Amino acid sequence: MTDEKTPPAPLPPLLLVGCGQMGGAMLAGWQADGLAPSVILDRHRDDIPAPHTVVRQAADLPDDFTPALIVLATKPQKAADILPSIARFARHAPVLSVMAGKTVGGLTAALAAAGAPGATVIRAMPNTPSAVGQGMTVCFAPPAATEADRALCTRLLSAVGDVAWVAEERQMDAVTAVSGSGPAYVFLLAELMEQAGIAQGLPAGLARQIARRTVSGAGALMEQSGLDAAELRRRVTSPGGTTQKALDVLMAPSAWPAEMEAAIAAAAHRAHELAS
Ligand SMILES: NC(=O)c1ccc[n+]([C@@H]2O[C@H](COP(=O)([O-])OP(=O)(O)OC[C@H]3O[C@@H](n4cnc5c(N)ncnc54)[C@H](OP(=O)(O)O)[C@@H]3O)[C@@H](O)[C@H]2O)c1
Repeated sequence: MTDEKTPPAPLPPLLLVGCGQMGGAMLAGWQADGLAPSVILDRHRDDIPAPHTVVRQAADLPDDFTPALIVLATKPQKAADILPSIARFARHAPVLSVMAGKTVGGLTAALAAAGAPGATVIRAMPNTPSAVGQGMTVCFAPPAATEADRALCTRLLSAVGDVAWVAEERQMDAVTAVSGSGPAYVFLLAELMEQAGIAQGLPAGLARQIARRTVSGAGALMEQSGLDAAELRRRVTSPGGTTQKALDVLMAPSAWPAEMEAAIAAAAHRAHELAS
């Protein structure tokens, strides 16, 4: 039986391939959570302290290192260069890929061709709020992955936010469109509210401050209250009042409802194209 006060077990050793925006955000969360001595492959990072080892090129990866998991976090177009160098580790450890558009089947086949037949590949789509521990990551595992593999991925990705799993890989396209790309839609909202405030005569600095704080504050309220977004919206909408007037514009069937649906469909379509 687990004592509720027992801290979670330290994170096992990882091979992190690519430590840029996303790999760096995840690593920061893992370091804070007590990551066992791990190896990071990235040609730009010289600021990661011991007990971790940073290597700048794949040829320098240590032969005697046995990671519990390999995390692939380079740009998708770099995958073909990297996979042959990590195949020897993938013979013994599962691979977690956060690369957009790279399918489990494609990566498994590429690893098999590189000398790791039957490697277990799990796919995840994180988002950039992971950098502040507020990420949303959705994962897909093929039947070959074990419960232990899935639990390890959940444990790791929980260090940078919430984690969910989908049962079918094709759902990753919609996930990419909603939560992977989603922070950009919210940043656009802040930009447009700022510009509209300026158009209404506000000083630029004040317009920026109130737009940013409204977006982040509303997000925090939604998170902390646990209420549905629709209910929170109704609570600030008095019939015939100012909010109602704005929502009449935004919620017209041809406005945000149709536009958001079209935007997410376009992003999901692009995710599907990239994965094909
Ligand atoms: N950023 C996001 O919002 C986001 C969200 C969801 C998923 N993702 C996925 O996360 C992955 C990484 O994205 P990112 O934005 O973090 O990319 P990134 O900032 O370019 O980070 C990748 C890092 O890996 C290094 N690298 C690549 N190949 C290497 C090699 N052979 N040897 C040594 N270092 C190497 C890169 O260096 P060089 O630049 O010199 O190659 C770079 O520092 C992508 O596949 C993306 O689809 C990103």
